Amino acid sequence: MAERTIPLIDHRHAAARPAVPRFAAVPNGLLSDRLGRALGDLRISVTDRCNFRCSYCMPKEVFDKNHRFLPHAELLSFEEITRLARVFALHGVHKLRLTGGEPLLRKNLEVLIEQLAALRTPEGAPLDLTLTTNASLLVRKAGALAAAGLKRVTVSLDALDDAVFRRMNDVDFPVAEVLAGIEAAVAAGLAPIKVNMVVKRGINDHEIVPMARFFRDHFGGKVVLRFIEYMDVGVTNGWRMDEVLPSAQVVARIHAAFPLRVLQATALGETAERWGYADGAGEVGVISSVTQAFCGDCNRARLSTEGKLYLCLFASRGHDLRALLRDPAGYSDTQIAAAIGAIWQGRDDRYSELRGSAEGAVASAAKVEMSYIGG
Ligand code: GTP
Ligand code: 5AD
Ligand code: SF4
Ligand code: SF4
Repeated sequence: MAERTIPLIDHRHAAARPAVPRFAAVPNGLLSDRLGRALGDLRISVTDRCNFRCSYCMPKEVFDKNHRFLPHAELLSFEEITRLARVFALHGVHKLRLTGGEPLLRKNLEVLIEQLAALRTPEGAPLDLTLTTNASLLVRKAGALAAAGLKRVTVSLDALDDAVFRRMNDVDFPVAEVLAGIEAAVAAGLAPIKVNMVVKRGINDHEIVPMARFFRDHFGGKVVLRFIEYMDVGVTNGWRMDEVLPSAQVVARIHAAFPLRVLQATALGETAERWGYADGAGEVGVISSVTQAFCGDCNRARLSTEGKLYLCLFASRGHDLRALLRDPAGYSDTQIAAAIGAIWQGRDDRYSELRGSAEGAVASAAKVEMSYIGG
């Protein structure tokens, strides 16, 4: 799998310093970007490190012992993250997802979760607080995470066959430990648990039906499996269209084994198309960023480990919010909210819709890595 990795472009110094508008309006939760899209979902990367080396995300040949991960002083502190999340909530964010790298590698993550769980929307509701993990540390941590106020988790698992999975995570990590992690999450009440499988044609697509069968038959409907089209995020994974299996084919294969019918979307801007088993045994989802872009109502913003705001998974440049937080001028929350508001109002990103076009090629000349801004 080593043949096609491409050197990393280091984004960590490329960021615009946001302007702080002189007359800061108080945020009213009605922010809208240039394409009329609201802000609703903030994904926060808490570390750029991971103990896996999935070839589609952190290929071993690039993220090797010579790769320089961010030093601790560069990371946002928990207080800085919580302050930004509070400001984002004023702008209408109602969902927070902690990501990485692998978020459970960040020390004392429960402390951050406690702080985030205490936040409220302007209407007084708690935020939907969740986390994406490879589950390697879940057996140890699920109880403490739930006690700290985490609502649910999403687990990445790309195969049930041990040899296939070990090859995909490229650190020889066994399936059984991920399943034990899911079990621990169920026991801790972190449901509904979602399991994400990235499908690469010829690598793990023969695992689609076995995965569907397994999650139909286990965990009593508490786990929802979703199949993700392999995406051209970042530049290092050597992505090729012929390795993408269109979700329509995923659905067709499952349908042939277990009849499916399409379900209504539950929320605007949802990534997954939902399909229910005709016999009532739960549901599966497909996330089709390549064959059926869902930029039209994308309400997602991403905060990198050291505090840069990215407006699209495929963006080339971030906005350095940490520079504002640490500015000797001592900006107020209202001023920082105004700066974020202005950034969102200027947003016109829709990379998945432009993929393959000349405009898309310009927009994504030096895409950021997913391990740096999170899924
Ligand atoms: P839930 O509320 O748990 O359903 O979250 P979600 O649907 O946002 O899903 P999740 O965060 O698990 O995302 C699943 C996968 O979808 C990610 O790992 C990405 O591969 C892909 N994805 C998520 N958000 C975006 C996005 O904004 N654009 C694109 N192109 N892909 C995305
Ligand atoms: N394509 C699709 N999804 C990806 N992820 C990481 N890299 C890719 C990629 N190239 C997502 C997977 C994984 C999560 C952490 O990030 O969903 O489960
Ligand atoms: Fe780590 Fe998740 Fe990336 Fe795999 S996909 S390398 S588990 S961050
Ligand atoms: Fe949103 Fe960018 Fe993904 Fe489109 S490609 S859905 S704009 S993050």
